[in-house]
Amino acid sequence: MKTRITELLGIEHPIIQGGMHYVGFAELASAVSNAGGLGIITGLTQRTPELLAKEIARCRELTSKPFGVNLTFLPSVTPPDYPGYVQAIIDGGVKIVETAGNNPQKWLPALRENGIKVIHKCTSVRHALKAESIGCDAVSVDGFECGGHPGEDDIPNMILLPRAAEELKIPFVASGGMADARSLVASLALGADGMNMGTRFIATKEAPVHERVKQAIVAASELDTRLVMRPLRNTERVLKNEAVERLLEKERALGANIKFEDILPEVAGVYPAIMQRGEMEAGAWSCGMVAGLIHDVPTCKELIDRIMAEAEQLIRGRLSTLLG
Ligand SMILES: Cc1cc2nc3c(=O)[nH]c(=O)nc-3n(C[C@H](O)[C@H](O)[C@H](O)COP(=O)(O)O)c2cc1C
Repeated sequence: MKTRITELLGIEHPIIQGGMHYVGFAELASAVSNAGGLGIITGLTQRTPELLAKEIARCRELTSKPFGVNLTFLPSVTPPDYPGYVQAIIDGGVKIVETAGNNPQKWLPALRENGIKVIHKCTSVRHALKAESIGCDAVSVDGFECGGHPGEDDIPNMILLPRAAEELKIPFVASGGMADARSLVASLALGADGMNMGTRFIATKEAPVHERVKQAIVAASELDTRLVMRPLRNTERVLKNEAVERLLEKERALGANIKFEDILPEVAGVYPAIMQRGEMEAGAWSCGMVAGLIHDVPTCKELIDRIMAEAEQLIRGRLSTLLG
């Protein structure tokens, strides 16, 4: 399948693995890239630019295909060493960066001068148009269904994607709620050039996370996610657990007076305990509604091959026969 995204990124299939904190290590990124998609290392999971440089080198040993690095720009009083991370990406010869969070404008000249393609992930048409206007090469449009931060507009992909298609000139991928061939074909029909998946890629053999995380996703239904931190305008979709119930109880009790410090025990630094040690009640962790569509733990190649084969059957079979 050829789309503007496969052409832009030099990949075989229009499937991207979005950056994921404590999930997007070299093992997963290389497995997705080796399967013909685009794997992405999560920059900030590496505590320093030096460690990111090592992770990039490790990924390059595991694949000769293109892969990317995610750089998430968080609002922070003491920001991470972004110039250092950008330099590690440039020096590591990475040619694709997924940006997310705040406007990436400040970092675009350095990235683009080094021939790096930038895909900005955003949750509204407004932000997608902004990304286009500042020179991003593509956008990843993340609907309300998504795991992680869906923004504050709450527009599901059935509306958000065709709206993005109406407005954007640059290529875009559909993100949030994507799991299988049906997701891919629907995304293409709605005007996207491919799809980005997060939660689905956690439940794969190569994802370097604890087995209990994968099983929690397989066991979860589409009813099992919750939105936290909405009163702080930092909404995150997470899988429900005891810590999330506690957090939501604090939100109800404190109302508009809630501060980030009130929920630190449930959200700060909890990813290593959950992802690496499988302590499933340790805190809130991002997970999409799409968990309801995830029933197995295949290899990345099995998953991507299945998606592409079934997408072809859907297009050549069911859809074309509807036309008689
Ligand atoms: C566990 C987890 C961690 C994530 N961490 C990040 C992150 O650090 N930076 C980022 O830009 N997106 C992050 N995301 C969002 C994903 O890249 C992707 O946009 C999202 O998962 C798509 O929705 P889906 O889960 O329905 O596929 C994370 C998602 C999950 C599930």
